[in-house]
Amino acid sequence: MGLLIKGGEVITADARPRCDIYIENETVTSIGQALDVPPGTETIDATGKLVFPGFIDPHVHIHLPFMATFAKDTHATASKAALIGGTTTFIEMCCPSRYDDAIEGYQTWKQKAEGNSACDYAFHMAVTRYDAATEAQLRAIVKDGTASFKVFLAYKDFFGVTDEELLSTLKLAAELGVITTAHCENAVLVSQQQRKLLAEGKTGPEWHEPSRPEMVEAEGTGRFAAFLEQTGATGYVVHLSCEPALRAAVDAKLRGVKLHVESVLPHFLLDKTYAERDGVEGMKYVMSPPLRAPRNQCALWAALDAGLIDTVGTDHCPFDTAQKLMGAEAFTQIPNGIPGIEDRVNLMYTYGVKLGGLNIHRFVDALSTRPSKLFGLFPRKGTIAVGADADLVVYDTEYRGKIAASTQHTNNDYNGFEGFAIEGRPSVVTVRGKVQVRDGQFVGEPGRGRMLRREPMHGPQGAAHAG
Ligand code: URP
Ligand code: ZN
Ligand code: ZN
Repeated sequence: MGLLIKGGEVITADARPRCDIYIENETVTSIGQALDVPPGTETIDATGKLVFPGFIDPHVHIHLPFMATFAKDTHATASKAALIGGTTTFIEMCCPSRYDDAIEGYQTWKQKAEGNSACDYAFHMAVTRYDAATEAQLRAIVKDGTASFKVFLAYKDFFGVTDEELLSTLKLAAELGVITTAHCENAVLVSQQQRKLLAEGKTGPEWHEPSRPEMVEAEGTGRFAAFLEQTGATGYVVHLSCEPALRAAVDAKLRGVKLHVESVLPHFLLDKTYAERDGVEGMKYVMSPPLRAPRNQCALWAALDAGLIDTVGTDHCPFDTAQKLMGAEAFTQIPNGIPGIEDRVNLMYTYGVKLGGLNIHRFVDALSTRPSKLFGLFPRKGTIAVGADADLVVYDTEYRGKIAASTQHTNNDYNGFEGFAIEGRPSVVTVRGKVQVRDGQFVGEPGRGRMLRREPMHGPQGAAHAG
Protein backbone atom coordinates (compact mmCIF):
# COMPACT_ATOMS: atom_id res chain seq x y z
CA MET A 1 0.00 0.00 0.00
CA GLY A 2 1.32 3.42 -0.98
CA LEU A 3 1.46 6.60 1.07
CA LEU A 4 0.64 10.06 -0.29
CA ILE A 5 1.87 13.26 1.33
CA LYS A 6 -0.40 15.87 -0.16
CA GLY A 7 -0.22 19.60 -0.68
CA GLY A 8 2.83 20.50 1.43
CA GLU A 9 5.53 23.01 0.57
CA VAL A 10 8.48 20.74 -0.15
CA ILE A 11 11.75 22.31 0.99
CA THR A 12 15.06 20.89 -0.15
CA ALA A 13 18.53 22.43 -0.17
CA ASP A 14 17.76 24.23 -3.43
CA ALA A 15 14.01 24.30 -4.17
CA ARG A 16 10.60 24.84 -2.56
CA PRO A 17 7.75 23.60 -4.79
CA ARG A 18 4.25 22.99 -3.44
CA CYS A 19 3.53 19.43 -4.52
CA ASP A 20 2.52 15.89 -3.61
CA ILE A 21 4.91 13.07 -2.80
CA TYR A 22 3.96 9.46 -3.44
CA ILE A 23 5.76 6.64 -1.68
CA GLU A 24 5.70 2.96 -2.54
CA ASN A 25 7.28 0.56 -0.10
CA GLU A 26 10.34 2.42 1.20
CA THR A 27 10.98 4.82 -1.65
CA VAL A 28 9.68 8.06 -3.14
CA THR A 29 8.29 7.00 -6.51
CA SER A 30 6.67 10.21 -7.79
CA ILE A 31 6.57 13.90 -7.04
CA GLY A 32 4.20 16.33 -8.72
CA GLN A 33 1.01 18.37 -8.68
CA ALA A 34 -2.25 16.57 -7.88
CA LEU A 35 -0.80 13.11 -8.29
CA ASP A 36 -3.11 10.38 -9.43
CA VAL A 37 -2.74 7.55 -6.91
CA PRO A 38 -4.37 4.12 -6.50
CA PRO A 39 -7.68 4.01 -4.61
CA GLY A 40 -7.25 3.31 -0.89
CA THR A 41 -3.89 5.04 -0.67
CA GLU A 42 -3.23 6.38 2.83
CA THR A 43 -3.03 10.16 2.59
CA ILE A 44 -1.33 12.63 4.91
CA ASP A 45 -2.65 16.15 4.41
CA ALA A 46 0.36 18.48 4.51
CA THR A 47 -1.57 21.60 3.48
CA GLY A 48 -0.11 24.63 5.25
CA LYS A 49 2.92 22.63 6.36
CA LEU A 50 6.51 22.31 5.20
CA VAL A 51 7.91 18.98 4.05
CA PHE A 52 11.63 18.49 4.68
CA PRO A 53 13.92 15.59 3.85
CA GLY A 54 14.60 13.57 7.00
CA PHE A 55 17.29 15.32 9.02
CA ILE A 56 20.68 13.70 9.58
CA ASP A 57 22.66 14.18 12.77
CA PRO A 58 26.30 13.65 11.79
CA HIS A 59 27.69 13.49 15.34
CA VAL A 60 26.11 11.61 18.24
CA HIS A 61 27.28 9.47 21.13
CA ILE A 62 24.87 6.77 22.30
CA HIS A 63 26.89 3.86 23.63
CA LEU A 64 29.81 5.69 25.23
CA PRO A 65 32.08 4.48 28.02
CA PHE A 66 33.78 7.76 28.99
CA MET A 67 35.21 9.46 32.08
CA ALA A 68 34.56 6.46 34.34
CA THR A 69 30.88 6.19 33.38
CA PHE A 70 28.52 5.62 30.43
CA ALA A 71 26.35 8.05 28.50
CA LYS A 72 22.72 7.51 29.48
CA ASP A 73 20.87 6.69 26.28
CA THR A 74 20.32 3.35 24.61
CA HIS A 75 19.78 3.06 20.88
CA ALA A 76 16.08 2.57 21.60
CA THR A 77 15.71 5.77 23.63
CA ALA A 78 18.00 7.96 21.53
CA SER A 79 16.46 6.90 18.22
CA LYS A 80 12.92 7.63 19.38
CA ALA A 81 14.04 11.00 20.68
CA ALA A 82 15.77 11.66 17.37
CA LEU A 83 12.68 10.78 15.34
CA ILE A 84 10.32 12.85 17.49
CA GLY A 85 12.64 15.77 16.78
CA GLY A 86 12.76 15.10 13.02
CA THR A 87 16.11 13.31 12.77
CA THR A 88 15.71 10.15 10.71
CA THR A 89 19.38 9.14 10.50
CA PHE A 90 22.25 9.61 12.92
CA ILE A 91 25.93 8.86 12.63
CA GLU A 92 27.31 7.59 15.90
CA MET A 93 30.91 7.85 17.03
CA CYS A 94 32.17 4.30 17.61
CA CYS A 95 34.71 5.00 20.34
CA PRO A 96 36.67 2.12 21.82
CA SER A 97 39.41 3.54 24.02
CA ARG A 98 43.13 3.31 23.33
CA TYR A 99 43.28 0.19 25.48
CA ASP A 100 40.54 -1.68 23.59
CA ASP A 101 40.70 -3.73 20.43
CA ALA A 102 39.30 -1.79 17.45
CA ILE A 103 37.47 -4.71 15.84
CA GLU A 104 35.96 -5.85 19.12
CA GLY A 105 34.85 -2.29 19.77
CA TYR A 106 33.32 -2.00 16.32
CA GLN A 107 31.37 -5.24 16.83
CA THR A 108 30.16 -4.05 20.24
CA TRP A 109 28.81 -0.78 18.83
CA LYS A 110 27.12 -2.57 15.94
CA GLN A 111 25.49 -5.10 18.26
CA LYS A 112 24.19 -2.36 20.55
CA ALA A 113 22.44 -0.64 17.63
CA GLU A 114 21.19 -3.61 15.64
CA GLY A 115 17.51 -4.32 16.15
CA ASN A 116 17.23 -1.51 18.70
CA SER A 117 17.33 1.71 16.71
CA ALA A 118 14.03 3.02 15.37
CA CYS A 119 15.81 5.20 12.81
CA ASP A 120 18.59 4.47 10.34
CA TYR A 121 22.18 4.90 11.47
CA ALA A 122 25.82 4.69 10.52
CA PHE A 123 29.14 4.95 12.37
CA HIS A 124 32.31 6.99 12.32
CA MET A 125 35.11 4.66 13.45
CA ALA A 126 37.35 6.25 16.06
CA VAL A 127 41.05 5.53 15.65
CA THR A 128 42.32 5.80 19.22
CA ARG A 129 45.62 3.94 18.75
CA TYR A 130 47.67 3.17 15.67
CA ASP A 131 49.85 0.09 15.98
CA ALA A 132 50.92 -2.82 13.78
CA ALA A 133 47.39 -4.26 13.71
CA THR A 134 45.51 -1.05 13.01
CA GLU A 135 45.87 -0.77 9.24
CA ALA A 136 44.35 -4.20 8.54
CA GLN A 137 41.60 -3.58 11.10
CA LEU A 138 40.63 -0.26 9.55
CA ARG A 139 40.63 -1.72 6.05
CA ALA A 140 38.19 -4.40 7.27
CA ILE A 141 35.95 -1.83 8.96
CA VAL A 142 35.84 0.34 5.83
CA LYS A 143 35.03 -2.75 3.76
CA ASP A 144 32.13 -3.39 6.12
CA GLY A 145 30.64 -0.03 5.11
CA THR A 146 31.97 2.34 7.76
CA ALA A 147 33.72 4.80 5.49
CA SER A 148 34.65 7.58 7.92
CA PHE A 149 37.17 7.81 10.73
CA LYS A 150 37.29 9.85 13.93
CA VAL A 151 40.37 11.09 15.72
CA PHE A 152 40.64 12.93 19.01
CA LEU A 153 43.43 15.43 19.44
CA ALA A 154 42.16 15.83 23.02
CA TYR A 155 41.55 13.33 25.85
CA LYS A 156 45.18 12.31 26.11
CA ASP A 157 45.76 8.68 27.17
CA PHE A 158 42.14 7.63 26.60
CA PHE A 159 40.79 8.47 23.13
CA GLY A 160 43.59 10.83 22.08
CA VAL A 161 46.14 10.05 19.37
CA THR A 162 49.71 11.28 19.06
CA ASP A 163 50.80 13.31 16.04
CA GLU A 164 52.49 10.18 14.64
CA GLU A 165 49.25 8.24 14.96
CA LEU A 166 47.33 11.09 13.36
CA LEU A 167 49.72 11.05 10.41
CA SER A 168 49.38 7.28 9.93
CA THR A 169 45.59 7.51 10.11
CA LEU A 170 45.41 10.30 7.55
CA LYS A 171 47.79 8.55 5.16
CA LEU A 172 45.57 5.48 5.21
CA ALA A 173 42.42 7.61 4.95
CA ALA A 174 43.84 9.37 1.88
CA GLU A 175 44.67 6.05 0.26
CA LEU A 176 41.22 4.61 0.99
CA GLY A 177 39.28 7.79 0.14
CA VAL A 178 37.83 7.91 3.62
CA ILE A 179 36.94 11.20 5.34
CA THR A 180 38.42 11.73 8.84
CA THR A 181 36.49 13.65 11.47
CA ALA A 182 38.48 15.28 14.27
CA HIS A 183 38.02 16.69 17.75
CA CYS A 184 40.55 19.51 17.62
CA GLU A 185 42.05 20.67 20.92
CA ASN A 186 45.66 20.59 22.05
CA ALA A 187 45.75 17.85 24.70
CA VAL A 188 49.08 18.92 26.23
CA LEU A 189 48.01 22.52 26.73
CA VAL A 190 44.70 21.37 28.24
CA SER A 191 46.29 19.05 30.81
CA GLN A 192 48.92 21.61 31.76
CA GLN A 193 46.24 24.27 32.29
CA GLN A 194 43.98 21.85 34.22
CA ARG A 195 46.81 21.04 36.64
CA LYS A 196 47.59 24.73 37.15
CA LEU A 197 43.97 25.70 37.86
CA LEU A 198 43.38 22.82 40.28
CA ALA A 199 46.61 23.66 42.12
CA GLU A 200 45.25 27.18 42.57
CA GLY A 201 42.08 25.76 44.15
CA LYS A 202 39.98 26.55 41.07
CA THR A 203 37.86 23.40 41.05
CA GLY A 204 34.34 24.45 39.94
CA PRO A 205 32.73 24.00 36.50
CA GLU A 206 33.35 27.67 35.68
CA TRP A 207 37.05 26.76 35.29
CA HIS A 208 36.40 24.23 32.54
CA GLU A 209 36.39 26.90 29.82
CA PRO A 210 39.56 28.63 31.04
CA SER A 211 41.27 25.22 31.05
CA ARG A 212 40.61 24.88 27.30
CA PRO A 213 40.76 28.43 25.96
CA GLU A 214 39.94 29.36 22.38
CA MET A 215 43.56 29.29 21.22
CA VAL A 216 43.83 25.66 22.31
CA GLU A 217 41.04 24.80 19.87
CA ALA A 218 42.46 27.06 17.17
CA GLU A 219 45.81 25.27 17.50
CA GLY A 220 44.15 21.86 17.18
CA THR A 221 42.17 22.98 14.15
CA GLY A 222 45.22 24.49 12.45
CA ARG A 223 47.32 21.42 13.19
CA PHE A 224 44.67 19.07 11.83
CA ALA A 225 44.51 21.21 8.68
CA ALA A 226 48.29 21.08 8.27
CA PHE A 227 48.25 17.28 8.52
CA LEU A 228 45.47 17.14 5.92
CA GLU A 229 47.45 19.43 3.63
CA GLN A 230 50.52 17.26 3.96
CA THR A 231 48.71 13.97 3.35
CA GLY A 232 46.06 15.10 0.85
CA ALA A 233 43.38 13.51 3.03
CA THR A 234 39.89 14.95 3.46
CA GLY A 235 38.94 16.13 6.95
CA TYR A 236 35.99 17.33 8.97
CA VAL A 237 36.37 19.34 12.19
CA VAL A 238 33.68 18.35 14.66
CA HIS A 239 31.97 20.70 17.13
CA LEU A 240 33.90 23.86 16.21
CA SER A 241 32.98 26.39 18.89
CA CYS A 242 34.79 29.70 18.47
CA GLU A 243 35.97 32.42 16.12
CA PRO A 244 39.74 31.71 16.28
CA ALA A 245 39.18 28.04 15.39
CA LEU A 246 36.81 29.13 12.61
CA ARG A 247 39.49 31.44 11.25
CA ALA A 248 42.00 28.56 11.24
CA ALA A 249 39.52 26.36 9.37
CA VAL A 250 38.55 29.02 6.83
CA ASP A 251 42.20 29.86 6.25
CA ALA A 252 42.81 26.18 5.44
CA LYS A 253 39.77 26.01 3.15
CA LEU A 254 41.05 29.09 1.31
CA ARG A 255 44.40 27.44 0.65
CA GLY A 256 42.61 24.44 -0.83
CA VAL A 257 42.80 22.02 2.07
CA LYS A 258 39.91 19.55 1.84
CA LEU A 259 38.48 20.52 5.21
CA HIS A 260 34.84 20.64 6.24
CA VAL A 261 33.42 22.16 9.38
CA GLU A 262 30.70 21.11 11.80
CA SER A 263 29.39 23.17 14.68
CA VAL A 264 26.92 21.75 17.15
CA LEU A 265 23.66 22.95 18.63
CA PRO A 266 24.88 24.05 22.10
CA HIS A 267 27.47 26.45 20.70
CA PHE A 268 24.87 28.36 18.68
CA LEU A 269 22.53 28.96 21.61
CA LEU A 270 24.38 28.65 24.91
CA ASP A 271 27.43 30.47 26.25
CA LYS A 272 29.94 30.02 29.05
CA THR A 273 27.80 31.82 31.63
CA TYR A 274 25.68 28.64 31.79
CA ALA A 275 28.71 26.70 33.10
CA GLU A 276 29.29 29.51 35.62
CA ARG A 277 26.02 28.69 37.39
CA ASP A 278 26.32 27.38 40.95
CA GLY A 279 27.24 23.76 41.64
CA VAL A 280 25.62 21.04 39.61
CA GLU A 281 23.65 23.56 37.55
CA GLY A 282 26.97 24.68 36.06
CA MET A 283 28.24 21.10 35.72
CA LYS A 284 25.32 20.29 33.42
CA TYR A 285 26.91 22.62 30.86
CA VAL A 286 30.40 21.13 30.86
CA MET A 287 31.33 19.84 27.41
CA SER A 288 34.40 19.99 25.19
CA PRO A 289 35.16 22.25 23.49
CA PRO A 290 33.52 24.33 26.21
CA LEU A 291 30.72 26.84 25.90
CA ARG A 292 32.35 30.13 24.90
CA ALA A 293 32.02 33.87 25.35
CA PRO A 294 28.78 35.06 23.69
CA ARG A 295 30.53 36.98 20.88
CA ASN A 296 31.43 33.66 19.25
CA GLN A 297 27.78 32.90 18.51
CA CYS A 298 27.54 35.75 15.98
CA ALA A 299 30.56 34.35 14.14
CA LEU A 300 29.06 30.85 14.09
CA TRP A 301 25.65 31.97 12.81
CA ALA A 302 27.23 34.13 10.08
CA ALA A 303 29.56 31.32 9.00
CA LEU A 304 26.66 28.89 8.94
CA ASP A 305 24.60 31.17 6.72
CA ALA A 306 27.60 31.66 4.41
CA GLY A 307 28.22 27.89 4.19
CA LEU A 308 31.66 28.16 5.82
CA ILE A 309 30.28 25.98 8.56
CA ASP A 310 29.12 23.03 6.50
CA THR A 311 26.94 21.10 8.92
CA VAL A 312 25.15 21.33 12.26
CA GLY A 313 25.21 18.28 14.50
CA THR A 314 24.51 17.84 18.20
CA ASP A 315 27.37 15.90 19.79
CA HIS A 316 24.47 14.35 21.72
CA CYS A 317 26.03 12.92 24.87
CA PRO A 318 23.69 12.71 27.87
CA PHE A 319 24.96 12.38 31.42
CA ASP A 320 22.50 12.85 34.26
CA THR A 321 22.76 14.98 37.38
CA ALA A 322 24.26 12.21 39.50
CA GLN A 323 26.94 11.58 36.88
CA LYS A 324 27.73 15.28 36.60
CA LEU A 325 28.24 15.32 40.38
CA MET A 326 31.19 12.97 39.94
CA GLY A 327 33.03 16.22 39.31
CA ALA A 328 31.89 17.97 42.49
CA GLU A 329 35.47 18.13 43.79
CA ALA A 330 37.23 18.90 40.50
CA PHE A 331 35.90 20.13 37.15
CA THR A 332 38.25 17.68 35.41
CA GLN A 333 36.09 14.80 36.68
CA ILE A 334 32.77 16.11 35.33
CA PRO A 335 31.65 13.84 32.47
CA ASN A 336 31.81 16.01 29.35
CA GLY A 337 28.66 16.22 27.26
CA ILE A 338 25.10 17.41 26.87
CA PRO A 339 22.05 15.93 25.11
CA GLY A 340 20.55 17.52 21.99
CA ILE A 341 19.40 14.87 19.49
CA GLU A 342 15.73 15.61 20.11
CA ASP A 343 15.96 19.40 19.93
CA ARG A 344 18.40 20.25 17.11
CA VAL A 345 15.86 20.67 14.32
CA ASN A 346 13.27 22.62 16.29
CA LEU A 347 15.81 24.93 17.92
CA MET A 348 17.78 25.60 14.72
CA TYR A 349 14.52 26.21 12.86
CA THR A 350 13.20 28.56 15.56
CA TYR A 351 16.36 30.55 16.37
CA GLY A 352 17.94 30.21 12.92
CA VAL A 353 15.28 30.29 10.23
CA LYS A 354 12.31 31.82 12.04
CA LEU A 355 13.92 34.41 14.29
CA GLY A 356 17.46 34.68 12.98
CA GLY A 357 17.08 35.03 9.22
CA LEU A 358 18.99 31.84 8.39
CA ASN A 359 18.21 30.86 4.81
CA ILE A 360 15.81 27.91 4.92
CA HIS A 361 17.64 26.04 2.15
CA ARG A 362 20.93 26.43 4.03
CA PHE A 363 19.13 25.06 7.10
CA VAL A 364 18.11 21.95 5.13
CA ASP A 365 21.56 21.73 3.61
CA ALA A 366 23.42 21.97 6.93
CA LEU A 367 21.14 19.63 8.88
CA SER A 368 20.48 17.05 6.16
CA THR A 369 21.86 17.37 2.63
CA ARG A 370 25.49 18.21 3.35
CA PRO A 371 25.97 15.54 6.03
CA SER A 372 24.48 13.10 3.54
CA LYS A 373 26.87 14.18 0.76
CA LEU A 374 29.97 14.33 2.93
CA PHE A 375 29.38 10.95 4.52
CA GLY A 376 28.35 8.95 1.48
CA LEU A 377 24.59 8.74 2.01
CA PHE A 378 23.49 10.91 -0.92
CA PRO A 379 21.14 10.73 -2.86
CA ARG A 380 19.56 7.94 -0.84
CA LYS A 381 19.29 10.28 2.16
CA GLY A 382 19.35 14.06 2.53
CA THR A 383 16.95 15.09 -0.21
CA ILE A 384 13.45 14.53 -1.55
CA ALA A 385 13.69 12.97 -4.99
CA VAL A 386 12.31 10.06 -6.94
CA GLY A 387 14.35 7.01 -5.95
CA ALA A 388 15.41 8.40 -2.57
CA ASP A 389 14.46 6.72 0.71
CA ALA A 390 11.13 8.08 1.89
CA ASP A 391 12.50 9.72 5.03
CA LEU A 392 10.27 12.77 5.35
CA VAL A 393 9.41 15.37 7.96
CA VAL A 394 6.04 17.10 7.67
CA TYR A 395 6.71 20.21 9.71
CA ASP A 396 4.11 22.27 11.56
CA THR A 397 5.30 25.88 11.70
CA GLU A 398 2.23 26.90 13.75
CA TYR A 399 3.22 24.76 16.73
CA ARG A 400 4.27 26.66 19.83
CA GLY A 401 5.94 24.99 22.79
CA LYS A 402 8.83 24.97 25.23
CA ILE A 403 11.72 22.58 25.70
CA ALA A 404 11.36 20.69 29.00
CA ALA A 405 13.10 17.71 30.56
CA SER A 406 9.72 16.58 31.86
CA THR A 407 8.45 15.92 28.32
CA GLN A 408 11.65 14.82 26.58
CA HIS A 409 12.31 11.30 25.29
CA THR A 410 16.08 11.35 25.69
CA ASN A 411 17.04 9.32 28.75
CA ASN A 412 18.20 12.13 31.01
CA ASP A 413 16.93 14.06 34.02
CA TYR A 414 17.73 17.51 32.66
CA ASN A 415 17.69 19.34 29.36
CA GLY A 416 20.29 22.04 28.76
CA PHE A 417 17.75 24.05 26.74
CA GLU A 418 15.05 23.96 29.44
CA GLY A 419 12.51 26.72 28.88
CA PHE A 420 13.62 27.64 25.35
CA ALA A 421 10.55 28.42 23.25
CA ILE A 422 10.12 26.57 19.96
CA GLU A 423 8.08 27.76 17.00
CA GLY A 424 7.57 24.60 15.00
CA ARG A 425 7.87 20.84 15.32
CA PRO A 426 7.42 17.74 13.15
CA SER A 427 3.82 16.60 12.87
CA VAL A 428 4.64 13.44 10.87
CA VAL A 429 7.99 11.70 10.44
CA THR A 430 8.52 8.76 8.11
CA VAL A 431 11.47 6.41 7.87
CA ARG A 432 11.67 4.57 4.57
CA GLY A 433 7.95 5.13 4.03
CA LYS A 434 6.73 4.08 7.45
CA VAL A 435 5.15 6.65 9.75
CA GLN A 436 7.22 6.57 12.95
CA VAL A 437 6.04 9.81 14.61
CA ARG A 438 2.79 11.76 14.80
CA ASP A 439 2.50 15.02 16.73
CA GLY A 440 5.31 14.46 19.16
CA GLN A 441 4.52 10.78 19.81
CA PHE A 442 6.43 7.74 18.63
CA VAL A 443 3.81 5.57 16.89
CA GLY A 444 6.02 3.34 14.78
CA GLU A 445 8.12 0.26 14.89
CA PRO A 446 10.98 0.19 17.39
CA GLY A 447 14.08 -1.49 16.01
CA ARG A 448 13.15 -0.73 12.40
CA GLY A 449 16.38 1.19 11.78
CA ARG A 450 19.08 -0.21 9.55
CA MET A 451 22.80 0.32 9.49
CA LEU A 452 23.68 2.33 6.39
CA ARG A 453 26.73 0.92 4.64
CA ARG A 454 28.74 3.56 2.83
CA GLU A 455 31.41 3.57 0.16
CA PRO A 456 34.58 5.67 0.49
CA MET A 457 34.09 8.68 -1.73
CA HIS A 458 36.86 11.12 -0.90
CA GLY A 459 39.50 9.58 -3.12
CA PRO A 460 42.10 11.47 -5.16
CA GLN A 461 39.58 12.18 -7.91
CA GLY A 462 37.59 14.17 -5.37
CA ALA A 463 34.38 12.50 -6.54
CA ALA A 464 32.56 13.77 -3.51
CA HIS A 465 33.95 17.16 -2.83
CA ALA A 466 30.55 18.09 -1.46
CA GLY A 467 29.40 21.60 -0.92
O1 URP B 1 31.89 17.12 25.70
C1 URP B 1 31.78 16.35 24.77
N1 URP B 1 31.90 16.83 23.56
N2 URP B 1 31.51 15.04 25.00
C2 URP B 1 31.43 14.01 24.06
C3 URP B 1 32.78 13.54 23.59
C4 URP B 1 33.31 14.45 22.52
O2 URP B 1 34.34 15.06 22.72
O3 URP B 1 32.73 14.56 21.46
ZN1 ZN C 1 34.66 15.73 20.78
ZN1 ZN D 1 31.46 14.01 20.19
